[in-house]
Amino acid sequence: MSAQTISRRLTQADLAKIYQAGEKIVMFTCYDASFARLLDNAGIEAMLIGDSLGNVIQGHDSTLPVTVADIAYHTAAVKRGSDRAFIIADMPFGSYQEAPEQAYRNAVTLMAAGAQMVKLEGGREMAATVEFMVQRGIPVCGHVGLTPQSVHVLGGYKVQGKGEAAAQRLKDDALSLQNAGATMIVLEAIPAALAAEVTTLLKIITIGIGAGKDTSGQVMVLHDAFDIPPGKKAKFVRNFMDGATSIHDAASRAVAAIKEGSYPGPEHTYNG
Ligand code: KIV
Repeated sequence: MSAQTISRRLTQADLAKIYQAGEKIVMFTCYDASFARLLDNAGIEAMLIGDSLGNVIQGHDSTLPVTVADIAYHTAAVKRGSDRAFIIADMPFGSYQEAPEQAYRNAVTLMAAGAQMVKLEGGREMAATVEFMVQRGIPVCGHVGLTPQSVHVLGGYKVQGKGEAAAQRLKDDALSLQNAGATMIVLEAIPAALAAEVTTLLKIITIGIGAGKDTSGQVMVLHDAFDIPPGKKAKFVRNFMDGATSIHDAASRAVAAIKEGSYPGPEHTYNG
């Protein structure tokens, strides 16, 4: 199945079919209607209104100051600008960690703004919350590995899951999110071999960022992919503006590179 043949808004069932057909899923972060239109036209299948907007839109040095109202505002804009992409809204720091009921209430705000799924960071400690939300009609995407909302606990933006014990913990976390009902999981900044193992272990979709090529799909931060602002980026980033004739062309090249498996390459990959 190719998502290119579907002209309506994609659902999580459509993404599951793309995955089951062995095709990579292409996700970009997106924060506004103009880029949403552009990414939609380039064939991006899923858009994440990431709390990375704290960095790339608001100019903070972390994602911590982002609020539910911020994510809701940008989710509504992305929804208005797009017709096809599946829309996932990030749950910001402090909006879900306290109790399942708190998470549910804030997720309702994001779903009402136009999200089809919400994403939250954390492993087994979030399982009860994920189960509570899924049972009440909120599809959930997990996020393990480098979880930027925990930057001060992690001691910086570092590769995670290195070494046997850390790798086992990450696998257990991913499994407990799946068992709780999460239908997608982001794997951020972990060794490629571990991401491949997690993807084989799970039945649900894995989306990698700095996790090698063997996940079910890739997510790219829009500003990284288009080199905004120009300059040095993380190892896993490829500048798709390089050699492109327009932003649309760059986005189309990103879709092609992810679909054919040429991005991420070994130079974008962490080892164990
Ligand atoms: O906020 C974000 O952009 C994210 C991606 C890095 C997955 O969570």
